[in-house]
Amino acid sequence: MAVEKLEKLKKERNAIILAHNYQRPEIQDVADFVGDSLALAMKAKETDADVIIFCGVDFMAESAKIINPDKVVLFPDATAKCPMAAMVDAEGVVKLKEKYGYDVVSYVNTSAAVKAVSDICCTSANAVKVVESMPNGVIFVPDENLGLYVKRFVKDKDIILWPGFCPTHLGITKKDVLELKKKHPNAIILAHPECHPDVIDIADKIASTEGMVRYAKESDAKEFIVATEKGLCYRMKKEMPDKEFYPIENAVCPTMKKITLEKVIRSLEKMEPEIKLSEEIIEKARKPLERMLKVGRSS
Ligand code: 13P
Ligand code: SF4
Repeated sequence: MAVEKLEKLKKERNAIILAHNYQRPEIQDVADFVGDSLALAMKAKETDADVIIFCGVDFMAESAKIINPDKVVLFPDATAKCPMAAMVDAEGVVKLKEKYGYDVVSYVNTSAAVKAVSDICCTSANAVKVVESMPNGVIFVPDENLGLYVKRFVKDKDIILWPGFCPTHLGITKKDVLELKKKHPNAIILAHPECHPDVIDIADKIASTEGMVRYAKESDAKEFIVATEKGLCYRMKKEMPDKEFYPIENAVCPTMKKITLEKVIRSLEKMEPEIKLSEEIIEKARKPLERMLKVGRSS
């Protein structure tokens, strides 16, 4: 019933549902497109729908609006704010910029205001490629672990890190991963670059959530330990039923789970909550996002 109601509303409004890989199964099942932050930003750019219902967290929905200022972007739960994005503010970034004179690379996990003072954005799927594309040293905000991961590859640039982190990924320990490996010795260890360096050190493949899906599809291996938010395993199992995916049981992002089917339907019925940003912020934040989209994906 609920799904039929949603489909009807979607047609009436010419709406598309974009959902992140960590969303609840019920949301992934009704979405028109499920992906990582980069894929969702790309999809938002190319859609000809009038309304985008964004199922993810605040910074992702804001990015969709910045890329598509003329479209209505609905965000079914306005309280779904990524705690990492809240760890950095525009004022602090500007101070660092003045101190070092470097360009600012901001992870998309930032507010529109932080993007507006950034030179380029990146996601976990292209952070290394983006930093490599910069001419000089960079200030990298806000995820310290992603920045440390980039530093493993980019040796010829000074990279100033911001001390931000993802509580969900930081909660994944080397011990958790090794315990799973003991139980499933043939499993390949996949890890997200937001994880602690101890976890990165023991992983077989480090990638964005989309990169993990692609890697598992192309691999001959049948078992995978998935060191990221647990929700990704739902998509992986759905798309690769013949393979096994072992999640880290406590790796749940409560913010990502705030969006429910009921909230999506209500939001489309009432056409709210809607993402609203000032023209000035949109104009300024669009440049670093568009610049990132030109760099594209590396994993
Ligand atoms: P991805 O872009 O890899 O999906 O990651 C987004 C995110 O919020 C990770 O915590
Ligand atoms: Fe933010 Fe971490 Fe949740 Fe991703 S998993 S949305 S970085 S809190």
